Amino acid sequence: MILAVLYCLLWSFQTSTGHFPRACTSSKNLMEKECCPPWRGDGSPCGQLSGRGSCQNIVLSNAPLGPQFPFTGVDDREAWPSVFYNRTCQCFGNFMGFNCGNCKFGFWGPKCTEKRLSVRRNIFDLSIPEKNKFLAYLTLAKHTTSPDYVIPTGTYGQMNNGSTPMFNDINIYDLFVWMHYYVSRDTFLGGSEIWRDIDFAHEAPGFLPWHRLFLLLWEQEIQKLTGDENFTIPYWDWRDAENCDVCTDEYMGGRNPANPNLLSPASFFSSWQWLRKHRPLQEVYPEANAPIGHNRESYMVPFIPLYRNGDFFISSRDLGYEYSYLQDSEPDFFQDYIKPYLEQASRIWPWLIGAAVVGSVLTAVLGGITILIRRHRKRKQLSEENQPLLMEKEDYHSLLDQSHL
Ligand SMILES: *[C@@H]1O[C@H](CO)[C@@H](O)[C@H](O)[C@H]1NC(C)=O
Ligand SMILES: *[C@@H]1O[C@H](CO)[C@@H](O)[C@H](O)[C@H]1NC(C)=O
Ligand SMILES: *[C@@H]1O[C@H](CO)[C@@H](O)[C@H](O)[C@H]1NC(C)=O
Repeated sequence: MILAVLYCLLWSFQTSTGHFPRACTSSKNLMEKECCPPWRGDGSPCGQLSGRGSCQNIVLSNAPLGPQFPFTGVDDREAWPSVFYNRTCQCFGNFMGFNCGNCKFGFWGPKCTEKRLSVRRNIFDLSIPEKNKFLAYLTLAKHTTSPDYVIPTGTYGQMNNGSTPMFNDINIYDLFVWMHYYVSRDTFLGGSEIWRDIDFAHEAPGFLPWHRLFLLLWEQEIQKLTGDENFTIPYWDWRDAENCDVCTDEYMGGRNPANPNLLSPASFFSSWQWLRKHRPLQEVYPEANAPIGHNRESYMVPFIPLYRNGDFFISSRDLGYEYSYLQDSEPDFFQDYIKPYLEQASRIWPWLIGAAVVGSVLTAVLGGITILIRRHRKRKQLSEENQPLLMEKEDYHSLLDQSHL
């Protein structure tokens, strides 16, 4: 029941933008291609006067891409974020954020020097008041306009290369819905032509780092919104779920019953544990020739400030969070259980990475969402994909509403 409610609510993650700082969407910003807003604390760009960061040129990776996307210069998300900006805040030390106003994940305090580990708890371990609180937070997010971010309602071309900005307000909840849509939408090739074989967050190694960052940012936005600095997203242990009865493979899992192209979610614990315990070298994550946007040094679409895929291919503890079940698990059990897989790690990395994420409640739901989006695309391709981004208010609403079951 609770899960059903949760499902309904989280379903709304299905669709919705670029993570554009409101402070960077004037025509001046877009034409100068600069996104270095002042930090409130001292009024200087990137909090430079307080040593928090500085405005710097973006350095793009030039590692070769896989062959899946045979175009260049047709999609705003290519070489992210260079179509929109070529200068952003680069933060020093433990500072983070589009104006270096936040702390890196896992750090707290006015100077971001306190290290703290957040614990994500099993949804079934929450008390009823805790569950209600979680749902209330989601509702609040759904009804609160994001003070920091807006979404683009047209492509860069439609904005006349930035001279006529097209951005809309959005509530905090839908902001994340929109980001998920933006990162996985098809490429508009002009007229009614689209290119489907592109996705900056799925079907390739970027899946893990992208969804990790997505959830961490979402968690952070909820913390800011509610003032509850201890808020963490609960996770759902898929292994207990009825629709996983067919998952006979205890670890790496069989096929997802709903979509044979997706991994069974049954094995996610092992993979998380694998990443956490064995701290695979960054080399395991492909540096080059991954599909567009998925190389190790690629900046993840559509996040601003910039985050590289490789930066999130690390232990969750290094990102400041942990799962409650891991806190009291027996280490050797996992160690032994996983060992056979380790040897093959470099050969099966896409699989491991894919399996790694399908774990927390949200990622679980997002998996379903992807399927839905795809189905939805097939159905609504003309009304939706051929109209770059969301030009009409109605489109926008239908896109968001389909999730509200
Ligand atoms: C950034 O873009 C602006 C506007 O197109 C241009 O004038 C400037 O030379 C670019 N800077 C870099 C470092 O590419
Ligand atoms: C936008 O920039 C492109 C490439 O620099 C150029 O071909 C095009 O004419 C520009 N469009 C407008 C409306 O300025
Ligand atoms: C968060 O947790 C810490 C440590 O348990 C506690 O000291 C603090 O008061 C909590 N903050 C809130 C807002 O509940």
